[in-house]
Amino acid sequence: MQHAYDMYLKEILIDESTLQARIKELGAQITQDYANSNNLILLCILKGGVIFMSDLARQIDVPHELDFMAVSSYGKGARESTRNVRIDHDLTVGVTGKDVLIIEDIIDSGFTLSKVVEMLWTRSPKTLKICTLLDKPARRQATITVDYTGFAIEDKFVFGYGLDLDEKFRNLPFIGVVNLDSLKHD
Ligand code: IMP
Ligand code: MG
Repeated sequence: MQHAYDMYLKEILIDESTLQARIKELGAQITQDYANSNNLILLCILKGGVIFMSDLARQIDVPHELDFMAVSSYGKGARESTRNVRIDHDLTVGVTGKDVLIIEDIIDSGFTLSKVVEMLWTRSPKTLKICTLLDKPARRQATITVDYTGFAIEDKFVFGYGLDLDEKFRNLPFIGVVNLDSLKHD
């Protein structure tokens, strides 16, 4: 069957059932770790974390709130992040004294999340942890502690399941490797 993404897809890196099985495991682990928490907030980093959070939240059996934060790095090249991070949308609830679990799509250099973490600590949460679907450890430049990782992957540009290719294709149910040849004429 033909799809709108075919020309951009080099290969499927993580298929839908593998993603969902791992998310189920993460949900069980988080349920166990936060069993005694009565003020858990899942904090999605928009936009990339939104698909992951919506599936992960449904695997977590601890009462919790959902909230969102949008950040962007400025002065950036299209596929690289920089050290300068700006908050485009702040969360709508206070985090003081609460258990905050950040939900991210992918950690690359780590600059974005290290800034978010630094900023959130100034608001005195009780705990602050990070859950990322994907991690590219080979690319790390900022020091950051990741508490939950779905999959560690090689340094390849990927898309789908929340991750965009020039803002498109976040809806794909799998993680695909971008066919870089398809972008050369854009
Ligand atoms: P960092 O600040 O370098 O860790 O950047 C992390 C952000 O870069 C992620 O939240 C994504 O939005 C984006 N990013 C990094 N690698 C990829 C990729 O392979 N595909 C799509 N977006 C990516
Ligand atoms: Mg992105």
